[in-house]
Amino acid sequence: MGYLKKMFLNINGVDRILVCDPEKDNLAMVLRRLGLTGTKVGCGTGQCGACSVILDGKVTRACVKKMKAVPEYANIITIEGIGTPQNLHPIQLAWIVYGGVQCGFCTPGFIVSAYGLLQENLNPTREEVRAWFQKHRNACRCTGYKPLVDATMAAAEVMRGEKTMADLEFKLPEDGRIYNTHFPRPAALSKVTGLCDFGADINDKLPDGYALHLAVVQAGTSHARVISIDSAEAEKMPGVEKIITYKDVKGTNRIVLPPGNPVAKTDGAERPILVEDTIFRYGDVCALVAADSREHAREAAKKVKVNYEQLPEYMNALDSMAEDAMEIHKGTPNIYFELPVITGGDTEEIMESAPYVVEGSFRTQRQPHLVLEPDVSLGYYDEEGRLTVHCKSLALNATLTAMCPGIGLKPDQVRLIENPTGASFGYAISPSATALTAVATIATGRPCCLQFSYAEHNHFTGKRAPGFTNLKIAADEEGKIQAIEFDVAYDKGSYSEVCRVITKGIRFMCAPYVIPNAIGLSKAVCTNHCFTTSFRSFGSPQIFPASEQLMDELAEKMGMDPLELRYKNVYRDGDKTINGHTLDVYPMVEILDRLRPKYKAALERAKAEDTPEKRRGVGIACGMYNVTAGPNDHSEVALELNADGTVTHFNTWEDQGQGGDIGTLVHTHECLRPLGLTPDQIKLVQNDTALCPASGPAAGSRSNYMNGNATIDAANKLMAAMKKEDGSFRTYDEMVAEGIPTKYIGIADTSGLTEDLNWNNGQGKHTAEFTYGVFMSEVEVDVATGKTKVVGMTAIGDIGVVSSRQAADGQAYGGLAQGIGLALSENYDDVQKHTSLVACGLPFIEDVPDNLDIDYVESYRPTGPHGSVGCAELYLSAPHAAILNAIHNATGVRIYELPATPDRVKAGLDTLARGEKIVSKKYYLGCDLHERIEDIKRNPLIVLK
Ligand code: FES
Ligand code: FES
Repeated sequence: MGYLKKMFLNINGVDRILVCDPEKDNLAMVLRRLGLTGTKVGCGTGQCGACSVILDGKVTRACVKKMKAVPEYANIITIEGIGTPQNLHPIQLAWIVYGGVQCGFCTPGFIVSAYGLLQENLNPTREEVRAWFQKHRNACRCTGYKPLVDATMAAAEVMRGEKTMADLEFKLPEDGRIYNTHFPRPAALSKVTGLCDFGADINDKLPDGYALHLAVVQAGTSHARVISIDSAEAEKMPGVEKIITYKDVKGTNRIVLPPGNPVAKTDGAERPILVEDTIFRYGDVCALVAADSREHAREAAKKVKVNYEQLPEYMNALDSMAEDAMEIHKGTPNIYFELPVITGGDTEEIMESAPYVVEGSFRTQRQPHLVLEPDVSLGYYDEEGRLTVHCKSLALNATLTAMCPGIGLKPDQVRLIENPTGASFGYAISPSATALTAVATIATGRPCCLQFSYAEHNHFTGKRAPGFTNLKIAADEEGKIQAIEFDVAYDKGSYSEVCRVITKGIRFMCAPYVIPNAIGLSKAVCTNHCFTTSFRSFGSPQIFPASEQLMDELAEKMGMDPLELRYKNVYRDGDKTINGHTLDVYPMVEILDRLRPKYKAALERAKAEDTPEKRRGVGIACGMYNVTAGPNDHSEVALELNADGTVTHFNTWEDQGQGGDIGTLVHTHECLRPLGLTPDQIKLVQNDTALCPASGPAAGSRSNYMNGNATIDAANKLMAAMKKEDGSFRTYDEMVAEGIPTKYIGIADTSGLTEDLNWNNGQGKHTAEFTYGVFMSEVEVDVATGKTKVVGMTAIGDIGVVSSRQAADGQAYGGLAQGIGLALSENYDDVQKHTSLVACGLPFIEDVPDNLDIDYVESYRPTGPHGSVGCAELYLSAPHAAILNAIHNATGVRIYELPATPDRVKAGLDTLARGEKIVSKKYYLGCDLHERIEDIKRNPLIVLK
């Protein structure tokens, strides 16, 4: 315990006295204790700028500013001092209008930082804005940064008096329609003013004396037999209430995520909530410490000793597929799930006679999600005695099913609420942190808060599965693809969570091209690395680097232009996918036609700006992704007419920043246009399982499609009930007087539109709809260092009729930025080193070009709500492959292993300089492809009815 000091500070224009520990407290802690929780803490180590405030005129990261370094009488401005909901600052309004808010966790820090810039320079250039955010380490994982620069420039115009606030505001079109417009997100106002309470803010504002604070004891090894967990010393530490181990768990202590496939050799129940007798990966939670403060809990957690016997660590799929590798989960083979695709005739024969054949082997990395907000949750018993957990989940109802047997309760005894969430991009499909909090709340009988540090979060949460791909493509004289052969292994890490990822390998390999003949195998492999989970564009970023780089290789071999080769091969009317089904729309020809002039101009630019030191190149890649979770996808929402004539929409369209609020609003408004409601007459009640129907997870680009269709159904039911014989609508009072219900459930279901794949040959229409696109990247490679700079990215996508342009633009920009990280820097491989945002390669603003060009081909989807489909995943399907092709175009270096870090590119340049070829070595993925396919033909994986 240190000493306390009285300080006198001017905060947001008001003189305030406060008392703090100048040695231990930092400025962020103090401001948050004062209730100024608009100052967010993300990394907590000075890397992300979420905690930015103005201290004596300078933008300052408050999380690393010790109070002893804050001068007495200092002037501090936080987000709360910049503007209020009734009196917004131009920067705040610009952030709302220009799509600066997605998850909103970075928003207060960025707005404060922009405010600091505009105090110094009211007329900055875009480059100066970017340099400022770079210098102040303002990071954003959602927006791709461009909208933040747009917003800063627009705010500056207002501040210079060149425009008014009214000029800046979004203008409703004359017909009042908000569908297919840039209408702002409902949640943006609370986020730009710092008034939105995220999970940590809610936890910090609990009434005194109720809650216990949890700290995790994480495994420091990747594979071990646990001998004992010694908590004797920890129990004696100050404030400790209880040390919780698996023995305290009332249920099975398992998270159960069945693979949903009869062929898989796992039941999905191998994962403990708290470690039992085996540690399967670094970061597994061996025990939880519950104490009266976070600090006490964390101190005590350091004293818990986990005694263990080391086991062999299989840190990648190649090692765990080796014949002498032990079974990581006893009784389950390390290759526990395998699916084939067999299309057309004899590929071997075609390969032998084809005039052009290209092949290669490619490896993608374990991409971390790199959200700014570390995982956080809160458990308590509500007014009805239900165990209630606030969490970041993107799959509230699925989490109930997955964790309830494990914690020893039935789903109807548990209520889950999604906190305002600082993004997830997929990882929050895991029930993990939610289950830990539930277990602790049950074991202690007290409310429990769990807040991970950034490093703990990074080790605990799932990542994108690395992929190992061998691919061979044969083409005829004209360049038309005749056959492909491939096998791909997804390194699933320690647990089988969402192992259906392997279906993507046999559905999207070489999409969106016509593949008349194919054999392929896709498999899930267990290792001792971090478990892998959903991540935007789940399952396809692993394979597009293979197919799209080989398309370029094929073009080079034939002396053809890469775009024209693709043009020749893309789906046209009536063509079938590799899974043997036709499509609702065929937009790829138009997409490539639109790209062509941009591509030619980019090639000209590259030629003009290429130097021996800084090589310039252009690369393209096509992408495609599914919409919906597959067959039998189901969503329910509810609409209720209120007494004042407004309508409330209830759903669990989890909003992780992608726009669950705006998506709900635009579809509801569009459906209810006959009622003449204004947008503010539609109320949203979302993401509380006690209040809202099960709308399914916010994953698989399904939410817009499924919940939009369910909204149409609910709206039709409500309006039919309201309609009078003369065509006018009943009021609420008239409905009640006539005994007509005022609330209606809308349902959407994909049964009938889709079918399971035939698991013996991969044929069948597995999903209701698709999105399509092409990406173009312009790069500059520094020959001396191998460092690649992306100088421009273009995306032309078809996501149907765009429902919310602001949300769609945001997904496009954000996806492109994440594609740059995936191509060049991001990784979670070395568990000792990859602990922070910076160490894991998060792109900052100067890593992402301001030149992000997006365009839409809006093909009306017959089964989609108002012609739309989904959006998020397309934009991370293949942008990284375009960057890899651009590197090759610039330098001749082919990248077989991601990320294309400077050392890898430099090694390639050196190889070429020695006059040698860069070649890839074929991976052994547990079997011979041809033998295994023949074997499956003889002995089907499953006997189909
Ligand atoms: Fe302070 Fe990240 S820089 S929270
Ligand atoms: Fe910037 Fe989410 S909006 S991190």
